[in-house]
Amino acid sequence: MPKLQVDNKQLDIMKSSWSTLKRSGKLNAFSIDFHRIFVEANPGRFELFKQDKSVQRARLLSMVTELVCESSLYYGHGTDSGTAIASSLAKKHKALSVNPDDFNTFLHCLLFALEKNLNDIWNDELRQAWEHSYNDFAKKIIKAMEETSNTDSQQ
Ligand code: HEM
Repeated sequence: MPKLQVDNKQLDIMKSSWSTLKRSGKLNAFSIDFHRIFVEANPGRFELFKQDKSVQRARLLSMVTELVCESSLYYGHGTDSGTAIASSLAKKHKALSVNPDDFNTFLHCLLFALEKNLNDIWNDELRQAWEHSYNDFAKKIIKAMEETSNTDSQQ
């Protein structure tokens, strides 16, 4: 069994705040804020940014959705999906030249956009829930990226 860093309460807080954001009608504003700061933090680095802006924003939203769903399936319900998903995401992100440091930048952009659009309910507990859930999942992807590198260098 993998060591669980994030507890069920934190997963529930993350999931319910994501639902609150969707219900509040601020999802579009969130995606605009997240996208703007993500582009500023990664100037010209990814092919993604050559696409239409609405596609770029939708991709970022689908990354957050993936994070919320997979964390909850894997850590909350103990399914086996996490490892397989993490290694598939690791391969895709390596091919996109995403490196481990990028995961920190991504987290800070995500927290910024969440705080701005959930400002009525935002507090330390909410921040920690997102931070822990994200870090647990990101760690799995980064570990799988490293394992892919090791396998590559042995070939
Ligand atoms: C927990 C963190 C993350 C999750 C769950 C996640 C998830 C995803 C998913 C599901 C996709 C779509 C893959 C596909 O096409 O099948 C994707 C694509 C992508 N991700 Fe992430 N991602 C994460 C972190 C990052 C980070 C840190 C970066 C870079 C700073 C990044 C950059 C990208 C880019 C550039 C694409 C390609 C989008 C496109 O052009 O279609 N991701 N990610």
